[in-house]
Amino acid sequence: MNSAAILQSVKDIVNSDSTRDEKLLNICKLLNESIDYYNWVGFYFANHEAKTLHLGPYVGAETDHTVIPFGKGICGQVAVSNENFVVPDVSAQDNYIACSFTVKSEIVVPLFVNGVNIGQIDIDSHVINPFTEADEILLQSINQEVAKLF
Ligand code: SME
Repeated sequence: MNSAAILQSVKDIVNSDSTRDEKLLNICKLLNESIDYYNWVGFYFANHEAKTLHLGPYVGAETDHTVIPFGKGICGQVAVSNENFVVPDVSAQDNYIACSFTVKSEIVVPLFVNGVNIGQIDIDSHVINPFTEADEILLQSINQEVAKLF
């Protein structure tokens, strides 16, 4: 599936008749099945009072990291920076939370609702340096659709 087809499928999921969490899970499944180097796909959501991220729907290996303080790891840094974070090789990162030794790279793209960073989509890959600008553009477009659920 190309990016346009994936984005159309995301729109169909957003407009489908199911709960928000079911829709988010279906988007994770779609991405995990459509792009071979997307090996773990999940959403984290911010609690701005507690300054923590909380794991939402995801597909892939179970993770211990269900709550991540702002600033910690790649996800925690994106909660503060409001910017995409592409990590070609996680072994080169000091501020990184390892989930599994099989993970080699990661991309995190913030989710904005009315200009507020309410969370993020997080993707882990088992290969080194797979993510390009096309992934960033696709994930930003997906998050714009996801934002309509909030
Ligand atoms: N590696 C992330 C932690 C979350 S897992 O990838 C599911 C990080 O450094 O923030």
